[in-house]
Amino acid sequence: MPKKEKKLKKEPIQSPKGMHDILPQYQDIWNRVRVACQEISEYYNFKRIETPILEYEELFSKTSGESSEIVTKQMFNVLTPGKDKLVLRPEGTASIARSYIQHGLSQLGSPVKLYMEGPMFRYEQPQSGRFRSFHQFDLEVISSDDDSVYDAQIILIFLKILEQLKIKNASVSINSIGCKNCRPEYRKDLINFYKSKKNKICDDCKNRLETNPLRLLDCKEEICQDLKKSAPIIVDRLCYQCKTHFKDTLEYLDELKIPYNMDHMLVRGLDYYTKTVFEVFAEGATFALGGGGRYDYLIESIGGKNTPAVGCAIGLERVIEIIKLQNIQYKPKHENNVFLIAIGNAAKKKSLGLIEKLRESNVEVFESLGKDSFNSQMKSANKMASPLALIFGQKEAHEESVIIKDMKSGAQETIPILKIADAIKKRLSQL
Ligand code: HAM
Repeated sequence: MPKKEKKLKKEPIQSPKGMHDILPQYQDIWNRVRVACQEISEYYNFKRIETPILEYEELFSKTSGESSEIVTKQMFNVLTPGKDKLVLRPEGTASIARSYIQHGLSQLGSPVKLYMEGPMFRYEQPQSGRFRSFHQFDLEVISSDDDSVYDAQIILIFLKILEQLKIKNASVSINSIGCKNCRPEYRKDLINFYKSKKNKICDDCKNRLETNPLRLLDCKEEICQDLKKSAPIIVDRLCYQCKTHFKDTLEYLDELKIPYNMDHMLVRGLDYYTKTVFEVFAEGATFALGGGGRYDYLIESIGGKNTPAVGCAIGLERVIEIIKLQNIQYKPKHENNVFLIAIGNAAKKKSLGLIEKLRESNVEVFESLGKDSFNSQMKSANKMASPLALIFGQKEAHEESVIIKDMKSGAQETIPILKIADAIKKRLSQL
């Protein structure tokens, strides 16, 4: 007898490592975060821009830096039939700058204020708050001068977004990393300081000493911490322009009563920064919710005119993580809705038309019309926590009326269909 064939259990395909679905039950919170970002940015005259998810690899090697982790370790390269060197964008600033040059957006005036929201990709080791696909909300001010009023305004907007989302105890860490005039001197000092102490730093830092010495200050390895404390401090070596710029930025923050921590170790992981750099944290966060700074030479470095700019990116997954961690509750968005229960064929046939009438009157309607029994539809209504149910049966369909039921008190009233939208709105406004 032939052996019974063993049924092979097929493993369901999973999402790629470090990449997540945003499920329907989380869309409300995502929308709330996105709306807060958009509303506040638009108030401050930022205009939306969208750029492709793929860009040429050289856009990032020229801006983030050949030796930056993003370029050396974290790029998702895309194989194309034409062998173009395309990558999934790891961040938005370079793309926005590319688009600004390509489309002559300087014609829009000065400053050009742009925002962008979308997925970014970095090949990282996934861990808490660190994914391979994540979403950023980017804010960029591209201006004809490097006025520190915009450094402060970017920080203010970031904090206002967190405030609108009720995130508690946000804090700003800030530093200035100078410009092409003063940074090379500081760089030399830093190299000299570390040169004789190579055996006291981690292997990555030994490399950084050759390729990107400023990043030594950012190292989180235990072995490097002590030495960092006695390393030269960049703000002590700033040129007159950078010093004044930093002082002005801090004065704007003081004027706005925005507290900040001066963090001499803050250098950020992208090479394009000049002068102000900052990161924003919140109570309970072990990671920055976002960060940014000034990048006065980036546009020039990819073929544009000398155009200073400043911006930041908010990590949306991290913001949502903090909302959960701080247990922030928002008023449910859908409380102004009704649940339609249709019983019998005649009512079911008329129910789609009834929903249309209610939609035209801006009444949000939930339903589970695919279920026939009253009880199962009522169960769905309870699950949706709708404050009112509309009961539409054979008799009501015939008489062109609907029963409104208050789900809390159980009180019911029959209303003519022509008056139903007004009756619903009146009851909802009284809740
Ligand atoms: P960034 O610090 O690389 O800066 O990223 C900004 C924010 O994006 C981080 O603070 C974090 O919230 C989020 N983020 C970064 N990597 C990940 C990840 N692997 N998983 C989850 N979230 C992540 C930039 O990208 C700059 N373009 C910001 C900027 C705009 N500077 C000037 N303008």
